[in-house]
Amino acid sequence: QAATEINLNEVPEGLNKTFEWRGKPIFVRHRTQKEIDRERAVDVSQLRDPQHDSVRAQRPEWLVLIGVCTHLGCVPIAGQGDFGGYFCPCHGSHYDAAGRIRKGPAPRNLDLPPYSFKGDDVVVVG
Ligand code: FES
Repeated sequence: QAATEINLNEVPEGLNKTFEWRGKPIFVRHRTQKEIDRERAVDVSQLRDPQHDSVRAQRPEWLVLIGVCTHLGCVPIAGQGDFGGYFCPCHGSHYDAAGRIRKGPAPRNLDLPPYSFKGDDVVVVG
């Protein structure tokens, strides 16, 4: 089974880039300290799919997601929506900068692929 190696130097702080793994879009987001602080402070009891930020990101500055809306499978757009993360234009699901569903029809958070870090500069998805 093929793994995808991503060079993290390709993703500047504050940006999200899309890669591919097994035909699926993979989002890699280099989060700012402000984003990390905001997501870590969210009261998870208010969430539809309650997950603390610490279980969403192995390393706080790197968010690695499968870029497929959990509603009906469209690809959300980074940097849009009401919660500073992603917006799915198909039916209006808003995700935060931890990929958690915050508003709209999606039933659960964006899925996390299996991944691991290789040193400081590479993440291996798969
Ligand atoms: Fe994303 Fe419906 S597919 S909101």
